[in-house]
Amino acid sequence: MNIGVFDSGLGGLWILKYLEEELPQYNFIYFADQIHIPYGSHTPDQIIKFSTEITDFLFNKDCMLVVVACNTATSSAISTLREKYKIPFVGIEPAIKPASQLSKTGHIGVLATKVTVEGQKLHDNIERFASNIEVHTTIGYGLVELVEEGKADTDEAEALLRKYLEPLLEENIDQLVLGCTHYAFLINRIKKIVGDKVHIIDPAPSVVRRVKQLIIENNILPTDNKKEPEIFTSGSNAEKVKEFFNNIKLPHTL
Ligand code: DGL
Repeated sequence: MNIGVFDSGLGGLWILKYLEEELPQYNFIYFADQIHIPYGSHTPDQIIKFSTEITDFLFNKDCMLVVVACNTATSSAISTLREKYKIPFVGIEPAIKPASQLSKTGHIGVLATKVTVEGQKLHDNIERFASNIEVHTTIGYGLVELVEEGKADTDEAEALLRKYLEPLLEENIDQLVLGCTHYAFLINRIKKIVGDKVHIIDPAPSVVRRVKQLIIENNILPTDNKKEPEIFTSGSNAEKVKEFFNNIKLPHTL
């Protein structure tokens, strides 16, 4: 039995790194849908189609649990996947609930893709968990592409981030929710812009906790033949994706 993880590209590797660290007795299979990146520029119906095809692929590789390590695909496709397949899914959504609980200023910021910002799921979560505070959303156009091109830690990325984050800082936010898994790779530059007064919420630890719960509930057994994660891409260079994964340094353990 394997655990499948997918994203439109490299973003979900951040989640995979945590999973590998916390569940070393399980085998993981990762799929990066780089031919269709960015998902944020596709329609929800197209994202459902891509996500279904990837789930078929992972299912055929004996994955008994699938982590949708992409806010955009979770927002558009996870309910269809849950209806279609009899296996458990773990999605990733902007962490509105913890951000609103932690906020002292009553203002939180959410940086995410267009599909996520405009999606019904985010709207519902804000109504459910943050009705008493102000939620300032902003679309991170171009950021996913910079991460994919290996330009996360550059002045070019910082300039773009500044454009998106400064208006949020003017609103006096004290929590910043990263609503796209790619943005975790921009964390150094984000910290430089927002400083110490804004707390950044990384959703990866809560995804790992949920995976651990579902492993127990669904009796998904560990392997006695542990391998390195198998990494696939619909793009042209799986080796490059593997190299990117191997170079990830997590800021902390869970
Ligand atoms: N990592 C995806 C997410 O969390 C990227 C979205 C995209 O491809 O636009 O939303």
